Amino acid sequence: MKRLMPLLCLILLVLRVLASEATSAEDKYINSLLSQMTLEEKVTLLHGNSTFYVGGIPRLGIPEWAMSDGPHGVRAEFNRHDWHYAGWTNDSATYLPTGTAIAATWNLDLCRTRGETLGDEARWRGKDVLLGPGVNIIRSPLCGRNFEYLSEDPYLAGQLAAAYIAGLQSRDVAACVKHFAANNQERWRLENSSQLSARTLHEIYLPAFKAAVKQGGSLCVMSGYNRVNGIFCAENAMLAQDILKGEWGFEGVYMSDWGATQSTVESAFNGLDVEMGTWAGHYDEWFFSRALLQAVRNDEVPMSVIDEKVRRVLRVMYRTHVIGNQRRYGPGSINTAEHQQEAYREAAEAIVLLKNSQGMLPLDASKIHSVAVIGDNATRKHSFGGMSSEIKALYEITPLQGLTDRLKGTNINIRFAQGYEAVSRDSVVPKSLRDSLMVQAVELARESDVAIVCCGLNHYYDSENFDRDDMALPYDQTALIQAVCRANPRTIVVVVAGSPVDLVSPSVCAPVIVWSWMGGMEVGHALADVLLGEVNPSGKLPFTIGYSLDQYGPHALGCFPGNEREVSYDEGIYVGYRWFEAKGFPALYPFGYGQSYTTFAYGKPQLSATKIHTGDQLTVSIPITNVGKMAGKEVVQLYVEDVASSVDRPLKELKGFTKLALNPGQTAQAVFTLTADDLAFYDESIKGWKTEAGEFRLHIGASSADIRQSATFTFVEP
Ligand code: BGC
Repeated sequence: MKRLMPLLCLILLVLRVLASEATSAEDKYINSLLSQMTLEEKVTLLHGNSTFYVGGIPRLGIPEWAMSDGPHGVRAEFNRHDWHYAGWTNDSATYLPTGTAIAATWNLDLCRTRGETLGDEARWRGKDVLLGPGVNIIRSPLCGRNFEYLSEDPYLAGQLAAAYIAGLQSRDVAACVKHFAANNQERWRLENSSQLSARTLHEIYLPAFKAAVKQGGSLCVMSGYNRVNGIFCAENAMLAQDILKGEWGFEGVYMSDWGATQSTVESAFNGLDVEMGTWAGHYDEWFFSRALLQAVRNDEVPMSVIDEKVRRVLRVMYRTHVIGNQRRYGPGSINTAEHQQEAYREAAEAIVLLKNSQGMLPLDASKIHSVAVIGDNATRKHSFGGMSSEIKALYEITPLQGLTDRLKGTNINIRFAQGYEAVSRDSVVPKSLRDSLMVQAVELARESDVAIVCCGLNHYYDSENFDRDDMALPYDQTALIQAVCRANPRTIVVVVAGSPVDLVSPSVCAPVIVWSWMGGMEVGHALADVLLGEVNPSGKLPFTIGYSLDQYGPHALGCFPGNEREVSYDEGIYVGYRWFEAKGFPALYPFGYGQSYTTFAYGKPQLSATKIHTGDQLTVSIPITNVGKMAGKEVVQLYVEDVASSVDRPLKELKGFTKLALNPGQTAQAVFTLTADDLAFYDESIKGWKTEAGEFRLHIGASSADIRQSATFTFVEP
């Protein structure tokens, strides 16, 4: 090693010189553009000039900057000056599984290829910025946008987001991670203030953004609409200046959510770079438009502040090759077979097997003559719903379609009964119609060998702008499931939803429960393949499913959703499994849980050291063996417990995970690395992270509640 040192130093030096040359080429280019701009031109770059564009400066070769939603597909084209779709015929897109579904894959490679797929399609549509991923923490099961977000756990959300962003940006499309920060409900989202401690903010609500920026290199960040501790996110200096641009060294653009800007001068000083909005056609009247020009002319905002913002916009444009060098990446592509395969792979790996009594799954098609497919969600398409993340999908394979396709050519008779009428939240279905739909479904179940009830939510419930009132399955679906189970003991419940729902009763009466999410355009095929054993399920829950709403911290404490003015995060750092474990509550289906058709054995973990110091890396490896009869994938999870701490800490916290594909009899090592940072808590007294000396216990398992192996080591202060 010693002999290699001079060579390593030389390589480092060359890399540093190359990097600084690259930076200076970028700086030179940006400086030259900036020096040629009038104030009016500069301000042009700092606000929208239509629904999804920022104006360009043609005389300097700066094109308009094109943006599009959203996190699971490129949204159809809007009219420039109103909120109607433009009616294009070539803007159908690939619809990928939504946020919680991709999170359930726990697969970083898939997140990366998801990003690449989205990048290809955004490129093809001429979009420079894609407005996603959404990484807000699932604080309550009721938040309407949970389906777009990733997890209740900041580490899981951050790792997935970073991989997605790296993939997306490899296609010269900037990511815009959203909504910064502590934007965890839809109710009163435009005005209320999330009241939380610095520790809660840093440990729970910021890490996914930090990973998106520092690890994933997200080039844009979108503000939340909400306030944090009284101050709107779009003008919150603590969030944008001190943390995002200061501590994390973010060099990109901090843009407002659409219509989230509240001021001109405060926003300009406190970190906002670009104002985007919903007030179409009045662009001159926006805060970062004529008012900003005026503020500069009145000496309220110095030119240096404007220049810094313009630099950021140009930097993102330069790094994605909107300006400057030739694009590295071609014209992109849309709706390719490969993109559809990506949708399929994600859907298949997302499906979580929650219950499988007596090995009823996989189904043996040779032993079945008739299948009853029941429930509105068996035929409902979800792509064009949920508001800003809606996708005009090229197609969407529903569960019924998927089963029909996969069972084509067999003698199995598939029949469908709607079971319930899925109306909007305020509408009422006449009792006579409800009863007759239920009776038809029960009759069909009774006459069939197997009943599959596709229940759950739809985008009347999983949607931007609303939170749900409770966790209940709407439309009396619980009663339907009970009745179908009574009529046919071979009933499979398929949950189509993006947020936790009440599954207590279905879990008692149904032998099988499978969660298939808002699973994208190929979900029907993926689901059929899981039910028929072509795919071994490997998804794990990215959130906790409790027995009741009042088991979750914010609901136990009665502090969700707060009121118009504020919502107090009284549960602090105890979100999701952290709360359940601290209170000793069992979960119906715990965080990280999901079954497989095979079985995995966890061997003895090996640690590279028994003591580590600051700067050291601890490597943990553990052999995992597929001891069953079918090839499968296992998500191995590593949780860390601080055995003795001067502050209250969760019993354990996720700090590593890996997904292994194993053939029957095969063993592979799950390998994790930890540093002192992974052991730290946010210490409010020093306004920073602190790792205390002492013992730490590692818990390695198949879910947060299924720990198979433990090991301890010591952190020693220098
Ligand atoms: C949403 C954002 C979205 C934007 C543009 C807002 O209402 O909160 O997530 O990107 O609209 O459609």
